Formats: sequence, structure tokens, C-alpha cells
Amino acid sequence: MSFNLLTLNVCMDVFSAIADIRRVRWSEPRATWGFVPTMGFLHEGHLSLVHRARQENDRVGVSIFVNPTQFNEPDDLATYPSDLDRDLRLLENEGVDLVWNPSQDTVYPPGYETYVEVTEVTKVLEGAARPGFFRGVATVVTKLFNVFQPNRTYFGQKDAQQAVVIRRMAADLNFPIEVIVCPTIREPDGLAMSSRNANLPPAARREATCLYHALLAAKELFEGGERDAERLRATMAGIINAVELARLDYVSVAHPDTLQEQAVVHDRALLSLAVFFNDVRLIDNMVVER
Ligand code: PAJ
Repeated sequence: MSFNLLTLNVCMDVFSAIADIRRVRWSEPRATWGFVPTMGFLHEGHLSLVHRARQENDRVGVSIFVNPTQFNEPDDLATYPSDLDRDLRLLENEGVDLVWNPSQDTVYPPGYETYVEVTEVTKVLEGAARPGFFRGVATVVTKLFNVFQPNRTYFGQKDAQQAVVIRRMAADLNFPIEVIVCPTIREPDGLAMSSRNANLPPAARREATCLYHALLAAKELFEGGERDAERLRATMAGIINAVELARLDYVSVAHPDTLQEQAVVHDRALLSLAVFFNDVRLIDNMVVER
């Protein structure tokens, strides 16, 4: 299906077919394009990327595609929230020019068998916890880059490892695209915005601020001079373990570029953690530096 919102009196193009995206993208060859990949159910975090793309480029493209190859749990894919009408309204308000909302078959037609693997930085953290996740992300982002062929692309620090993986992949595969990483946008109580927050029951939603509090506590310790990574991890783990509905998946103090776990923090570290509230899994992170 492909339709054009011009019929609804707005000037944002929304297409499913790849040929339509390419046609619009190259209709003004000298315009610069910023591109924001998303899985939809948009919030202020996504919109902050769109806003930045709007400021830095002549045209802005966004993809909305819940990518099946990056889900290793069928239930997680089935319960991923969506509201396309609302997403399109939000994007239109942000002044987006072009939206790609393809079907699964458009992205992965029958007989599809090509995947992109970034090897080292995907072995740890989210990559270790979610087998196949980054293979799915790297594959779909490669395809999105090939379809949109943007000058710049925008990712969130919220998914710190994903940003590292995409930077690595863009450099390794010679994509002529500048990868820009934007700050994490939070709810007023500190919870990092995420489409998955919508699946938290009210009690879990209230307790979900523990990720932010754990990161802040470790940051404070670091700023007070603590350099022993294990003590920083223990502080974060202690805060999560004290929360009744929370189940810690991992806690990490790693090098921000290599993502290798640190014993002692020298100049900079990526503090990160993943926490389950029943079957809703939340992640968050902060970079600390002296
Ligand atoms: P999704 O989770 O929809 O996120 C799309 C982009 O929004 C990612 O770059 C993500 O880091 C960013 N983002 C999410 N929450 C944010 C927040 N609170 N503050 C700032 N940025 C935030 O990440 C994906 O989709 C997919 O893996 C994708 C890259 C689209 C590939 O399928």
C-alpha cells in the first residue's frame, strides 16, 4: 500500500514502495537529507532526533518499521506498540518531508538471505543478552541507508551500544553518511523515554525510575573520586535489587568506544544497565568523564 497525505491537506509524503522513496529523495539532487530510522510509537525522544535533523538538513526522512529480524522473542514483537496515525501527525507537525512505512515483505521479500554482522562490539551487553539483535539492526539499517541514501542520520544515546554499532558499520562499509548521536530524552521523573514504557503496568512504571536513580548514584560516586568499576557496578545493582518489581539483567561499567568492561575507570566510562519488570525489559545508560 502506498498513499500520499497530500490528499489529507498536508505535504508530507508517506510511502511503502522503495521506488517512491528513491524518486522523492532524488527529486532535488542538491538538497541535503537527514534520516531518522524508527520503529514507530513515537515519543519526544524520537522527535528530538527529527528536530535536530530538521535543523541541519534541507529535507528530512523518517522510517517507521518494526523490524522482525531484531526481535528474538516472538512475544516481544507481538506486543510492540504501534499507532501509525498518531505517528504521522507528529511527524507532519515536525515538518518531516518523507516517511517510509514499508510492509515486512517489502523489506524482506520471499527468498531473502543477506545479513550484516558487526563482530566485536556486538558480543557484549545488549548483544550478549539478545542473540541476533544487532545482526537484525545492522541489516535493516543497511537497507534503510540504501533506500534513503541520506547525507546525515540521527540516533539516540538512549541505545548507546546501537549507536556504537551503527558508527562502526557505517565506517566499515563506507557509507558516505554522517552518524549523529543525540542525548537521551527523559520523562520528568527521570525515566528514559521508550516505546516499551507503554507496556509497564502503573506500579512498575512508578518503580521504573530506579534505572535513572542507579545511574545517578554511580555517577555521583564517580564524581566523588571513585574509580573502582566493581564498586560502581555494585552501587547500581544494589539500588535495582532493592526494588520489588525489578529484576536486574545486567549492570556494566565499560569503555564508551570499545564497550569492554573496565576494572578501573581512567577518563571516561559508559554506565549501563538492563532491568526487567515482568516481561518488559528497560535499558538506560550515562557516560561519565572526569
Ligand atoms: P526505536 O526504538 O524506535 O528508536 C529509534 C531511535 O530513537 C533510536 O536511534 C533510539 O536510540 C532513539 N531513541 C529512543 N528513545 C530515545 C530517547 N529517550 N531519547 C533519545 N533518543 C531516543 O532503535 C530502533 O528503533 C531500531 O533499532 C532501529 C534503529 C529503527 C532499527 O530497526
